[in-house]
Amino acid sequence: MGKYFIETFGCQMNEFDSERIAYLLDKSGYLKADNAGESDIVIINTCAVREKAKNRLYGHIGILKGLKILKPGLMICIGGCSAQNLKDEILKIFPFVDIIFGTHNISELPDLIFEKNRTGKSICDVKNDGFDYILDDFKNSSSFKACLPVSIGCNNFCSYCIVPYVRGKEISLNPKEVIKSAENLVSKGVVELTLLGQNVNSYGKDFEKEYGFAELLDNIAHINGLKRIRFMTSHPKDLSIDLIDVIFKNKNIMNHIHLPLQSGSDRILQSMNRKYSKESYLEIIKNIRKRIPDCCITTDIIVGFPGENYLDFIETMDVVKKVRFSKAYTFIFSKREGTEACKLDDIIPKEEKKQWFNELLLLQNLISMEENKKIIGKNLEILVEGSDGKGMMHGRLENSSIVNFEGNTDLEGKFVKLKIIEAKSFYLIGEITG
Ligand code: SAH
Ligand code: SF4
Ligand code: F3S
Repeated sequence: MGKYFIETFGCQMNEFDSERIAYLLDKSGYLKADNAGESDIVIINTCAVREKAKNRLYGHIGILKGLKILKPGLMICIGGCSAQNLKDEILKIFPFVDIIFGTHNISELPDLIFEKNRTGKSICDVKNDGFDYILDDFKNSSSFKACLPVSIGCNNFCSYCIVPYVRGKEISLNPKEVIKSAENLVSKGVVELTLLGQNVNSYGKDFEKEYGFAELLDNIAHINGLKRIRFMTSHPKDLSIDLIDVIFKNKNIMNHIHLPLQSGSDRILQSMNRKYSKESYLEIIKNIRKRIPDCCITTDIIVGFPGENYLDFIETMDVVKKVRFSKAYTFIFSKREGTEACKLDDIIPKEEKKQWFNELLLLQNLISMEENKKIIGKNLEILVEGSDGKGMMHGRLENSSIVNFEGNTDLEGKFVKLKIIEAKSFYLIGEITG
């Protein structure tokens, strides 16, 4: 049947989709290759969130062209978010691509490959909506951790964001099916589960009966043998007190909330269509910390949104100082065609945006370092995720921080107690205590 190799760009939702592609191809009899050079089918699962993602993709397809010249039978398949909105452009620039498929018809990929082999003709099959998540006996490649979507798509239309256009409208998965899939994964050895959605807090808003994310999370937390539960992403406009209570009540739900701020300026937040204010964001943080004082809070921030001035940027810096995020993923605004923000005048020079961005980075790195230093000397538990192949292992704490330590590779997938002995901005160093 041949060998396949998948390259994944983008977020955890795309990583989950790649796991699903691998699962479907394995079931159809294909074998996994270690690299593109050894494979008969290369699948690129693309991201579209920033302009850079597109440039990277085009560079990659260019490399595959060279591989295809050496190996003419190589099948190149492009899927994911950029395939969704750039299919015509990709076909035009790269006519040697064999299959283009979208985010709504992943389950059809084995049939598309069969069809391509039968007819020899390139296929472009991208649908604008639809729901093909059959999770039944899905098993991902890691033996101990997995991601599971609770909803797909997004209805929020933040003015800068392309995701609603490439992932379609929000659909919540049936809670019974999510719980069944979670139980299935746990029965196969999974101890850490990450629940995914573009906005997990609006889960269930499309159901007739009242059932929200807090209830789903509570139900999943009661699955026997599930040691760690994570979830992302929470939208500040929908984060409920019930959710904070469920996290507090269940020891196996990790004390970590990823709560994208995007901006601290009310004017910019409004232009971004985020539907909360600086004050209401800070109020949510207060509520979280009142109930769960050691809750780790991480965030996403965009710098240089059209119309943003230095005073707006100072408001963002102010929130960063007040909240003291453990970690912040920071981005310079990237113009995405088709979004509302694309129509706005964007007159701030690139260099100035870069300056603000560096200022923010400096502040956040200092805070991350100071927060990390607070846990030096503590004995904490990590789930070991892997090794660097040179005697150093790594794993994650409850708050999702990475800890490196000296240890054996047979610890992978196990819980280990460590004493934290050193802190850096982006990771910690520990030594085994038990
Ligand atoms: N659904 C999530 C995240 C979606 S994309 C949420 O609502 O937070 C991940 C992050 O990419 C966003 O939080 C945002 O900070 C960033 N992002 C999205 N579109 C962007 C753009 N056009 N330019 C720069 N950053 C962007
Ligand atoms: Fe994009 Fe906003 Fe939806 Fe997140 S909530 S995916 S930022 S539109
Ligand atoms: Fe994710 Fe990128 Fe698509 S962030 S949803 S893979 S546009």
